[in-house]
Amino acid sequence: METILIDWRNRKERDADAELIRSIVERGGLIVFPTETVFGIGGNAFSDEACRRIFKAKGRPPDNPLIVHVSSYEMAGKVAEIPARIIPALKKMWPGPLTVIMRNRGASTVATAGLDTVAVRMPAGPDAAAMIEFAGVPVAAPSANMATRPSITRNEDAVSQFMGRTDAILLGEEPEYGIESTVIDVSGDFPVIMRPGAYTIDDISSAFGHAEYFSGYMEKPSTPGMKYRHYSPSKPLYLIRDEERFINMVSSITGNFVPICSDRIGRSLEMDYISLGNDSDMYNVAKRLFAAMNEFDNSSYSEAYIHGFPENGIGYSIMNRIKKASVEI
Ligand code: TXA
Ligand code: MG
Repeated sequence: METILIDWRNRKERDADAELIRSIVERGGLIVFPTETVFGIGGNAFSDEACRRIFKAKGRPPDNPLIVHVSSYEMAGKVAEIPARIIPALKKMWPGPLTVIMRNRGASTVATAGLDTVAVRMPAGPDAAAMIEFAGVPVAAPSANMATRPSITRNEDAVSQFMGRTDAILLGEEPEYGIESTVIDVSGDFPVIMRPGAYTIDDISSAFGHAEYFSGYMEKPSTPGMKYRHYSPSKPLYLIRDEERFINMVSSITGNFVPICSDRIGRSLEMDYISLGNDSDMYNVAKRLFAAMNEFDNSSYSEAYIHGFPENGIGYSIMNRIKKASVEI
């Protein structure tokens, strides 16, 4: 399949592509595009056919629903029934990395995997917002990674993984967060966090007054996506939570492996490492995490070791992704 590259790294050219984007989406085509969280692969959320193509392009199981992206409240209202009581809080969080599960109104039931609810998000990424606006319809888009593989946060990874597999790739501003949106259920008195993400529990609490993590993780998957393996490189990745043990371990073993670690730890090692950035600000680590996993996947190393981080603030979401991607030893 021939893939059109739309390059918005040069901002001035955005408007010139409005018609192209509209026509691709109108005929059921798919576009890989950057958001402020990770890259998505999107198509018309009203079209069963377009949504079927998304599942196929990703190799995603059909019972794991897609997030529907909107560029306005008006568009959101066509997709879902937005409870009036959450609108003041929503206005503090949207546009931004928050996905809200609500009653479905107009999204394709292929996108929702037949559920009567739909997950909706208004992205803050300027390229994503413009693309949806140009498309003129809500855009169903899961993260643009092949099912079970790490999400994509760099233009180069979008090109290397989706060239020839999608109608178009939008190159633009790389994600600011590097980790997916926070998914919440708002059917009760306060939001319940079904998937931790770029907004922390404190961010959600301060907008909504209170929030809690879903407590049933162990008994049943909280979102359909949770039962599937996720985010993992195609080669073994081992988690050694404790920093000191991590340093001792990688310094003493031999073999074709690479450490994936913060620069602080990397500097103390006498070997090459894949950087997770400066961890004095954990948002740096979030931003590097999937890029590091993709870097490892593309490298000739046959295994990698990663260390743990404190599980508070954005660290909670980072560790959620690391634990899913690795085997703890
Ligand atoms: O940041 C993000 O959220 C990125 C960018 C592209 O926006 N998208 C993303 O999509 O991460 P995806 O498809 O990889 O993850 C969507 C998650 C899955 O865990 C899915 O099971 C859950 O949201 N989900 C979607 N619709 C749902 C629904 N109706 N009820 C419960 N969970 C739902
Ligand atoms: Mg995903």
